[in-house]
Amino acid sequence: MLDPMLVGRGNWRENHFATKRFVMARLKAAVLGTGSIGDIHLAGYAASPDVEIAALCDVNAARLAEMGRKYGVEPSHLYNNYRDLLKHETLDLVSVCTPNVFHFEMASAAIKKGIPTLIEKPMTISLDDARRLRALAGRTGIKTMVAFSNRFAGPNYTAKRLLDRGAIGKPFMIRVRYAHGGPYPGWGQSDWFYKPALAGGGALLDMGIHAIDMCQFLIGPIRKVSAFVRTLRKPIKVDDNAVVTVDFGPKIKCLGYIECGWTSGPGFGGVEIYGDKGTLILDVNRGPVHLHGTTKPDGTRVVECDPIEVPPGPSHWPLQMESWIRYVQGKKTVIPVPTVEDGYTSLAAALAAVESSKTGRQITLR
Ligand SMILES: NC(=O)c1ccc[n+]([C@@H]2O[C@H](COP(=O)([O-])OP(=O)(O)OC[C@H]3O[C@@H](n4cnc5c(N)ncnc54)[C@H](O)[C@@H]3O)[C@@H](O)[C@H]2O)c1
Repeated sequence: MLDPMLVGRGNWRENHFATKRFVMARLKAAVLGTGSIGDIHLAGYAASPDVEIAALCDVNAARLAEMGRKYGVEPSHLYNNYRDLLKHETLDLVSVCTPNVFHFEMASAAIKKGIPTLIEKPMTISLDDARRLRALAGRTGIKTMVAFSNRFAGPNYTAKRLLDRGAIGKPFMIRVRYAHGGPYPGWGQSDWFYKPALAGGGALLDMGIHAIDMCQFLIGPIRKVSAFVRTLRKPIKVDDNAVVTVDFGPKIKCLGYIECGWTSGPGFGGVEIYGDKGTLILDVNRGPVHLHGTTKPDGTRVVECDPIEVPPGPSHWPLQMESWIRYVQGKKTVIPVPTVEDGYTSLAAALAAVESSKTGRQITLR
């Protein structure tokens, strides 16, 4: 709403300036790929008083029109080709929410135009492209972020704070299990998730990359990887289950194991971290619990089970979008935003897991 103190009084010049200032203050956003996660990004932009949704792009005309209606974007700002969108629109923010194979070319084009860019995970599907994107972002200084949404879940960033202040001592083991029934049929607009050329990989690149990022967010850089990456249950050409073991050493004396999959019914989902003074259990199904082992003066060991106090506020996706907008505005964010470096290192670990599975060798990351 325009400030009545600035408009409706004074002369034309003042009114014009006030209106212009109001318009200029809103960041213009575009979303490339208006499927399930594109809708989540759009909801995040729509929730911000500082952002105007300026343009949308999707190759699916019906979906594009539906999202245009939902978010009040005029048909003249709806595109089926992202190059046309970038050519004709003046933008302050872009989200890349298409199938994985397009992330590299779309994000590169937006960054080259000088537009801050939020890229869905996996950042790219090849390590060479990830390297190129990281270099481009570094060279241009354009703000970028990779959408590792799990970092913005209250229990996860609270666990990070607890770890940083030594609540469970030194962590020596992390277990992450991110698994569900798979994206299609379900939320995906098509079966692109199951097509190697479009997705670049299966459950490991989709779910496992979140788990890898969570390991690096909570513990530190992964140094060695060995894995089994398999297609066990679905008639698809990409993997549907993977088990990855990781070593953070020699500097960080901690091991980790990751299970991810697209064929699971209900079961444990989340993160467990074991330290020399206690354990953190972040169970997405049962609610976060902080287990803290203690030794009484008589030497007997007890386990206290405390709920983790999660700060009030939006859940992970809305908080991710709020953080992205604040980052672009130069404001403080609840946690540092995930970078293209994080996008690169997580992809390197995921592709190392694929190589390990193929060769039967343990892979050391540089
Ligand atoms: N961070 C998270 O929590 C999270 C969750 C789900 C998906 N994702 C990621 O988001 C991306 C999209 O996944 P989704 O679940 O929204 O899939 P989706 O199938 O629901 O949506 C993809 C959309 O992209 C459109 N599209 C395809 N090719 C295009 C092109 N060349 N130009 C423009 N639009 C094009 C499709 O028509 C579709 O509407 C993937 O990279 C996926 O890994 C991230």
